[in-house]
Amino acid sequence: MLEGVEFLHAFAQALAVVALYPPNHARRRGALDDVYQRLLDLFAVDERPVFSFLGDEVVLGKQPLREMRDWEWSDRLAGIGMQRLEFDSSIPISLEELDALLDDIVARLTLRPSTSSMARQERVTGIRFGAVGVGDEPAPEEPDEKEIAAETIPFSLTEEAEAVVWVHEVLQDGGELPLMEAEAVVRSLTVAMHGDRQMMLPLLQLRQFDEYTTTHSLNVSVLSMGLAEWLGLGGRDVRAVGVAGLLHDLGKVTIPKEILNKPGTFTDQEREIMNSHSAEGARMILTSDQQLDLAATVAYEHHIMIDGGGYPSLRYPRDCHFASKLVHVCDVYDALRTNRPYRAPWPAKRVMAYIEEKSGTEFDGAMAQAFKAMMDQWEPRLTTLQVDETPPAPQPSAVPAGQAPRPPE
Ligand SMILES: [Fe+2]
Ligand SMILES: [Fe+2]
Repeated sequence: MLEGVEFLHAFAQALAVVALYPPNHARRRGALDDVYQRLLDLFAVDERPVFSFLGDEVVLGKQPLREMRDWEWSDRLAGIGMQRLEFDSSIPISLEELDALLDDIVARLTLRPSTSSMARQERVTGIRFGAVGVGDEPAPEEPDEKEIAAETIPFSLTEEAEAVVWVHEVLQDGGELPLMEAEAVVRSLTVAMHGDRQMMLPLLQLRQFDEYTTTHSLNVSVLSMGLAEWLGLGGRDVRAVGVAGLLHDLGKVTIPKEILNKPGTFTDQEREIMNSHSAEGARMILTSDQQLDLAATVAYEHHIMIDGGGYPSLRYPRDCHFASKLVHVCDVYDALRTNRPYRAPWPAKRVMAYIEEKSGTEFDGAMAQAFKAMMDQWEPRLTTLQVDETPPAPQPSAVPAGQAPRPPE
């Protein structure tokens, strides 16, 4: 939307001017007038524009602004906790309020005290900004979970799920990894996560066992990006982690469905085939695109435990990549909370207890702690998307008594 793009250009110009000139300087007033006019132009086509700054991506409402891709201010604004900037035309906004907003942003960017004469609490009624868990804006009143699901998720993720199915099919047929589509899915997930008003984690619920690899890939991608964002990574890195999460189990496309969905324990041979998916996935990713070394590393390492257990076993044990440790926690969380032919889904509380218990042995301690902190805070924003009204009946236990349960795959 042209008006949105022009407003942002004027906004950035004004930020540069505010950083240089004192209040009431003619240049500063000129820049402010320009932003104000652009805002009025924008109001003429959108009464309540909401900008989201997702690293190098700018979204207006639900529409990514292509012209603003790689806009340098997007990362900076997100970096100071302003991932969302919202204007409401029904509440009059004064030039002073705009000036105070710009001044406040510059103060945050440069870590200098704000020169604005207006106290925060007295102002900015038609302007809201912030990010989840960051900034000092009073938190908006929390709607309950049902309300979020009904009002702020226009996403079913059906198209994304279909794209993932297609990516898997291409690979199954011996084709090359369609990277563009995989990245498009990740971009789309980041938009869904930032919703209209606040951060949320839209997770898909499994409808048929066959869909496991698809829904699991999407969920691990969402959770991994949530955790990466929680840990303060920038937009580009968050999306790289999202791609790695999406592709972590790619090697499973080579494993027969009878093994993937087998109830009960594996024979040694089946276990060997199953365990080959991490190295196989890494190989597939690397042969498709050398640039995807992070995704390949994560595919290779996501079942390696912090104490050296898991698979593939390393001849010379070494520390796994940060992103592998991150995806590992998200992977196990999603695997355990999902209904599998060999295990009923675990309640979220039990999964969190498991992650805490295995912190420092299976999971990196700091990563497990961060995941728990994120879940504690974002639990109400965890939205399970029902893709079908009749989920499969839970299987109480397909494991004969006395046998060790299968680990999450
Ligand atoms: Fe896996
Ligand atoms: Fe997995």
